[in-house]
Amino acid sequence: MPLITLEPCTFALFGALGDLALRKLFPALYQLDRAGLLHADTRIIGLARDEGDQAQHLAFIEKNLRGYIPDSQIDSTSLDSFFTRVSWLKMDFLDASDYPALADLAGTNQTLVAYFATPASVYGGICENLAAVGLDENTRVVLEKPIGHDLGSSRRVNDAVAKFFPENRVYRIDHYLGKETVQNLIALRFANSLFETQWNHHHISHVEITVAEKVGIEGRWGYFDQAGQLRDMIQNHLLQLLCLIAMDPPSDLSADSIRDEKVKVLKALAPIGVEQIGQLVVRGQYIAGSSEGRPVPGYLEEENSNTQSDTETYVALRADIRNWRWSGVPFYLRTGKRLPSKLSQIVIHFKEPPHYIFAPEQRALMSNRLIIRLQPDEGISLQVMTKDQGLDKGMQLRAGPLNLNFSDTYRSSRVPDAYERLLLEVMRGNQNLFVRKDEIEAAWLWCDQLIDGWKRLGDSPRPYAAGTWGPMSAMALITRDGRSWYGDI
Ligand code: BG6
Repeated sequence: MPLITLEPCTFALFGALGDLALRKLFPALYQLDRAGLLHADTRIIGLARDEGDQAQHLAFIEKNLRGYIPDSQIDSTSLDSFFTRVSWLKMDFLDASDYPALADLAGTNQTLVAYFATPASVYGGICENLAAVGLDENTRVVLEKPIGHDLGSSRRVNDAVAKFFPENRVYRIDHYLGKETVQNLIALRFANSLFETQWNHHHISHVEITVAEKVGIEGRWGYFDQAGQLRDMIQNHLLQLLCLIAMDPPSDLSADSIRDEKVKVLKALAPIGVEQIGQLVVRGQYIAGSSEGRPVPGYLEEENSNTQSDTETYVALRADIRNWRWSGVPFYLRTGKRLPSKLSQIVIHFKEPPHYIFAPEQRALMSNRLIIRLQPDEGISLQVMTKDQGLDKGMQLRAGPLNLNFSDTYRSSRVPDAYERLLLEVMRGNQNLFVRKDEIEAAWLWCDQLIDGWKRLGDSPRPYAAGTWGPMSAMALITRDGRSWYGDI
């Protein structure tokens, strides 16, 4: 039996035929239903402006579910039972006259979860229309990223929503916070006194955060070219990971205690002035290359591209946190599209022992590393030094892993998708895994200075071939400090 209490709710999905709904939200709701994690009275209302009746829309949803969910996890019985929860309403989200029908369908006897899988420009309008028909009393609103494209626009969106919904009913999604291993960062750090005593500049030399993607733009040119990798990935996912690694222990597990600590980290990030950008930040753009042995086009040759674009598809940077715990410990972040593999990992490099008693040539080996893998193969591995086995080896050292591979250890049949956890938490009214307004704004403030700096410098992205680990200058960024990116990458 699940350890969590299920609460009934009405889940209204704005943008129910969009890419996110088809790829992530419907599959997540289906999996929750199949796992018995939706309350018997929970209902789903699909909202879209497209023509077509309920049967046509459900057939389309089914086709997509079958495409995104492995065959072994989908069957007609579970699908039929899931679809008994779903109803459909055609509406124009900015037309107030379409909302009384939604109010009739939703009723007010249970919590309404209004999920905005739409452009952020319509969030304020939807909130106003919901309030006009009394659907603001018992409602939680879920906002998808990107919320704005800089501090000013993000404030405008947040303020428009705040006119109708207080912060404790606003759930801002960063889907990385729903990933199993990201959640485990909190357990790892605060349920093991072993690590907390080492978690500071006395013992840690530097931290790497890598989020590498194999895919290119995949038909998302229109959105991506306006955003770029800094706004699309660093401003949210990578800075959230940095916060979870760097934050002080919260006094409890409540949403605000955790978020208070994260905001402190964001506010302590050292500004990167225009004169430092060239040294501390690298932006790249992929050119034609290969992926999995087949040729792939460069960013400027992708479908619907604009051949003049200087949007970055890769960013590597060094961030410093100005506080007692992290003084002098650089955080190296890198993320890019069309890299050789899909890999998200955090590597904590501990300092070398202060005094060497082993052979000097082995000195380079001698620092412990804690590797936290978010994907693929979720797990945690601690690299420790041991003596190599064998009579002929003398006191030769070897770095070996103490491994915790989640799927082997917990034998779970599958790792749930981040959206399953996030949807479940919204339905339970738990804001732990959602980003507060001041967090988003602090992250924008820091990223805006970089975007502004690039503009002032007229900086163009450095080319890198698709299927490689990014521009050469990203290597220089870290080797300049006498270090290298972890592993063979
Ligand atoms: C999204 C970005 O937020 O995260 C995408 O908009 C990116 O560009 C995606 O591909 C990566 O998520 P994941 O879970 O596949 O690492």
